[in-house]
Amino acid sequence: MVINDTIWQNDDIAQHYLTGVRGAIPLAAEQLDVMLRVVHAAPAIVTNILDLGCGDGILGQLLLDHYPQAKATFIDFSEPMLKSAQIRLADYTGRISIMNVDYSQQDWTYHFPHGNVSQFDVIVSGFSIHHQPDKRKQELYAEIFNLLTPGGIFVNIEHVASHTSWGKQLFDEAFIDSIVADQRRSGSVQSREEIIQRLFNTDDQYANILAPVEDQCDWLREIGFVNVDCYLKFFELAVFAGIKP
Ligand SMILES: C[S@@+](CC[C@H](N)C(=O)[O-])C[C@H]1O[C@@H](n2cnc3c(N)ncnc32)[C@H](O)[C@@H]1O
Repeated sequence: MVINDTIWQNDDIAQHYLTGVRGAIPLAAEQLDVMLRVVHAAPAIVTNILDLGCGDGILGQLLLDHYPQAKATFIDFSEPMLKSAQIRLADYTGRISIMNVDYSQQDWTYHFPHGNVSQFDVIVSGFSIHHQPDKRKQELYAEIFNLLTPGGIFVNIEHVASHTSWGKQLFDEAFIDSIVADQRRSGSVQSREEIIQRLFNTDDQYANILAPVEDQCDWLREIGFVNVDCYLKFFELAVFAGIKP
């Protein structure tokens, strides 16, 4: 059985994530707050935003709300996700472009009107790039660097690797606790065991190719990003960013 990131094109997996997992991600609000803070502190004037692997567009929408003059491009390669983004972003007509683009392909930037040249002041990505092999992650970070305007910022809210199985166990426990608490709040009577089964036996688990956040920050520095750091970390959930000089 070959399991790769295309599992996201499955409607059931997309809906399970959007309705059963996204809202329960531990420290989700803090991750968004950190994203907004680092974007705000970056030198670029925010006029053009890219949300990479946008899902239903949660990250880009928050930025559009904070930067009323800005426009945003949302890309994803999952039709169910793009449909959810269209619904979520229905009130932003004129400021948004929603595109079916697979960024695992090296020519993905040619889908943009200006091709692969500097054109975005902010590029964000949430829980998406960890499906790419490490070599492709590094190429992608370089392509993102090229797409940024000078002073522009890349922020990745991402699932990263633990260094030890002990660390992974800590993350799994915290993540399950958070999902169970969220399910209880929404009145679900599913047992913890059932929730674990659903969480860890879906194909998206097998499509993960996690890399330590330290390595990923080093890759960004090697490419030329500055002010690179992991600005928030909760076990395997990290918010890291870098600025194009
Ligand atoms: C876990 S969801 C995250 C969605 C959203 N960014 C969020 O923060 O909630 C991962 C998303 O990345 C998209 N994705 C994964 N690989 C992709 C690729 N190669 N090209 C475009 N989108 C991709 C999936 O379709 C899915 O919508």
